[in-house]
Amino acid sequence: MDSQPKPQILLTRQEIEATVSRLATEITGEYHDKHPLLIGVLKGSFMFMADLIRLLDFPLEVEFIGVSSYGKGSQTSGKVKVVQGLRSPIKGGNILVIEDIVDTGLTTAFLLDYLRKKKPASLKLCVLTDKPSRRQIPVTIDYLGFTVPDKFLVGYGLDLDEKFRNLPDICFLEGEN
Ligand code: IMP
Repeated sequence: MDSQPKPQILLTRQEIEATVSRLATEITGEYHDKHPLLIGVLKGSFMFMADLIRLLDFPLEVEFIGVSSYGKGSQTSGKVKVVQGLRSPIKGGNILVIEDIVDTGLTTAFLLDYLRKKKPASLKLCVLTDKPSRRQIPVTIDYLGFTVPDKFLVGYGLDLDEKFRNLPDICFLEGEN
């Protein structure tokens, strides 16, 4: 086993649960009669998506899209590409993108642009954690969970080199930025 930095808790599982519940209430208010398609951005959003949709008691569909922006480690490469595309057309649909984190904004801005070109009826963004201090390109977040400090986060789906996704709390790693 290689040695790993010790994760420190930033947001507890109870805080996450309460926030996901608040987001579900907000999303229900807007989408309960709109049969939306929720598109989760892989891989980091899988846990958030699973917890969120359990609280949405109306017809909806779920898709995932894979976007890659980071190389190894915690620094963005700045180059974004779709590595796993959508399996169904989204033209005319009410699309809600589910993101784990917005950092520089490059990934999300690219993705929203990519999806907008496919002519959905509506396109909105739900983000669990936002690091506004790192933004390089403006991104409008319609549903936001937490504003977080400029620390590298892991847990609740978020990873560092594919590790720590299984932590139930959102943590930061000392020495990673
Ligand atoms: P952005 O393009 O810089 O906004 O980064 C977006 C993507 O980078 C996210 O979807 C994550 O996959 C990854 N990312 C950014 N910050 C973090 C972090 O603190 N922890 C884990 N992944 C991150």
